[in-house]
Amino acid sequence: MADIPSTASPSPEEPARTSERTSRMTPPQLNTNVPHSARIWNYLLGGKDNYLADRQAGDRIRQVFPGMVDIARHSRYMLARTVRFLAEAGVRQFLDIGTGLPTVDNTHQVAQRVAAESRVVYVDNDPLVLVHAQALLTSTPQGATDYIEADVRDPGLILREAARTLDLTRPTALMLMGILGLVTDYDEARSIVNRLMAALPSGSYLALYDGTDTDPAYVEALRRHNEGPGVVPYTPRSPERIAGYFDGLTLLEPGVVPVTRWRPDPNPWGAAPEVACAGGVARRP
Ligand SMILES: C[S@@+](CC[C@H](N)C(=O)[O-])C[C@H]1O[C@@H](n2cnc3c(N)ncnc32)[C@H](O)[C@@H]1O
Repeated sequence: MADIPSTASPSPEEPARTSERTSRMTPPQLNTNVPHSARIWNYLLGGKDNYLADRQAGDRIRQVFPGMVDIARHSRYMLARTVRFLAEAGVRQFLDIGTGLPTVDNTHQVAQRVAAESRVVYVDNDPLVLVHAQALLTSTPQGATDYIEADVRDPGLILREAARTLDLTRPTALMLMGILGLVTDYDEARSIVNRLMAALPSGSYLALYDGTDTDPAYVEALRRHNEGPGVVPYTPRSPERIAGYFDGLTLLEPGVVPVTRWRPDPNPWGAAPEVACAGGVARRP
């Protein structure tokens, strides 16, 4: 995979230019001594917007579980296929919570390639994502993008802020890609999904993926990672529990499957290997 270009200066002393919208937000407080999931993810994806603590955390996971890079890259690829699929299905509004640092093919770029009028709201709680938000706010003139600095545990705030850009009386795709494992309590994670989906009308979609507990090396790598100082723990869950997030919705084919098996694009090398990360897409009836 090609190196992911750095999108802005990662230096806390030299934050990227901010739009009027982002400049109204809290100034970023970066603690670069503690690894953070957005920056570890960026490192695993081959990006440059990370710090020594993030690279060390990523390398510690890879030492125990070398397949971690495959999980990151195949998950990100599922995200792009999902957005393209939903845009081709007619979805024009996306609420992408747990956005991550800007990379190639961010949600608005994939959606607006299919339909230029697509509107996307990004949400993340990592201050470095806010620093780089300018790269996420490069909409087509026909569409719109916005960025909200918020915690997924505050669905009320997210919905209120998202309503500035999205018409939440119209079908919207809620994306929770690789974030619910960072909510340790399963019932709380389910309640977050339910509260967000309850605010969206019939014809809306839920798209998510998360790490599974199906590979002992991955589980062990995360157990060690979670013991690190200041780390927000990531909890891999059974595929059944991940499927539980879709209860009450109409799950689309092929259901909740390893991310490599979710509507893969044809390629000359055959099926990608299964990875310990499962996802799916469902429609609100
Ligand atoms: C594993 S990354 C996934 C990034 C992206 N969705 C993707 O699929 O490539 C998880 C993202 O969730 C964000 N995040 C973690 N905990 C969060 C929280 N409580 N509220 C909002 N965002 C959170 C992290 O900052 C990070 O950007």
